[in-house]
Amino acid sequence: TGYFTYDPGFTSTGSCESTITYIDGDKGILRHRGYAIDDLAEKADFLEVCYLLIYGELPNKAERDKFSADITMHTMVHEQMRNFYNGFRRDAHPMAIMCGSVGAMSAFYHDSTDISDPNQRLISAYRLIAKMPTIAAMAYKYSIGQPFQYPNNALSYSENFLAMMFGVPCEKYNVNPVLAKAMDRILILHADHEQNASTSTVRLAGSSGANPFACIAAGIASLWGPAHGGANEAVLKMLKQIGDVKNIPDFVNKAKDKNDPFRLMGFGHRVYKNYDPRAKVMQQTCHEVLKELNVQDPLLDVAQELERIAREDEYFVEKKLYPNVDFYSGIIFKAMGIPESMFTVLFAVARTVGWIAQWKEMIEDPSQKIGRPRQLFTGDVEREFKEVQNR
Ligand code: CMC
Repeated sequence: TGYFTYDPGFTSTGSCESTITYIDGDKGILRHRGYAIDDLAEKADFLEVCYLLIYGELPNKAERDKFSADITMHTMVHEQMRNFYNGFRRDAHPMAIMCGSVGAMSAFYHDSTDISDPNQRLISAYRLIAKMPTIAAMAYKYSIGQPFQYPNNALSYSENFLAMMFGVPCEKYNVNPVLAKAMDRILILHADHEQNASTSTVRLAGSSGANPFACIAAGIASLWGPAHGGANEAVLKMLKQIGDVKNIPDFVNKAKDKNDPFRLMGFGHRVYKNYDPRAKVMQQTCHEVLKELNVQDPLLDVAQELERIAREDEYFVEKKLYPNVDFYSGIIFKAMGIPESMFTVLFAVARTVGWIAQWKEMIEDPSQKIGRPRQLFTGDVEREFKEVQNR
């Protein structure tokens, strides 16, 4: 029934037109709306990057102030969301809580289901960007049994996030500006990455006209896996397992062994066949944060030595496997006091703007159709039904 190309894993299928993010994987280039990721990470703040992804331009001063005010207006979540958290087990993985709570927001903002209204689309985007840090911090607070912290709109996006994560009602929490800057940069580095698995999931879910909050919940589910956003958590577990630089060669050999499912987490990428430009900035940020906090983490020595050994190894060189964005981020989060189970949640907080910008671009594309891949059927085409006594 008609022609189609069989492309498992979509290694060579372009699924949409987009003007948001440009990647040249061979050269290791990542640009948002034409702006290099390292420039944005160094010179812009996260809200400016959000504006850029959604509107296509960097905001001028007035636009920036208005955007910031509009976003901060939406930082609180409905009070009933608090009860929702109590339904989860205390030891639930925060990514499980994120899937559930962001999906639940579609019930709180039912008007957002009217995706034909451009205002509703924009308000949904603003709500999601504004509320993700609140929801993420609540997932963390719930897991450690501390009271939820309300957002503080006098703080910047990243300062507020850190305050909701680490603040407690019984004492004043002073946000360390170096950490807030680092958090902002980490959010920028994760903000968008064109048609990765989670973004494609959001687009596919959205292509049926589904509620945008439900679509973002689908994206969070897709991000969770260790081959995607879950790699940042997996990297830290791996570095701990390696434990000492002297054990690195054994793990490198394990990663090269085709009969062993072990892979070097934080290494390799579907698109980059060169150094991931985000990993470069991440490594530099890692040094800055550890210096500021006066932390000497032996895991950083393990990570750096692992990178050095892998980059000289024929297997990794030949297959063009370089460190990716997830390789150094975990060491920074650990130094900041963020537990491993929250690493991928931070990725989700940052990627929400990319997801919703891509969702919006898709809905506003006149050529948009429901996403409906085909299959190569390899089963029995026709069989005669047998009564149960004859099977
Ligand atoms: N360690 C050892 N070997 C690897 C690795 C690795 N990390 N990554 C790829 N390879 C090998 C793989 O075995 C395959 O070998 P062969 O051609 O002999 O069968 C070859 O390199 C190509 O790998 P692939 O699995 O066909 O490539 P892919 O594009 O389907 O997968 C990937 C990309 C990111 C899933 C993979 O590199 C991987 O599993 N990396 C570890 C997990 C990770 O760090 N993920 C984060 C990705 S970046 C941020 C994000 O998306 O969240």
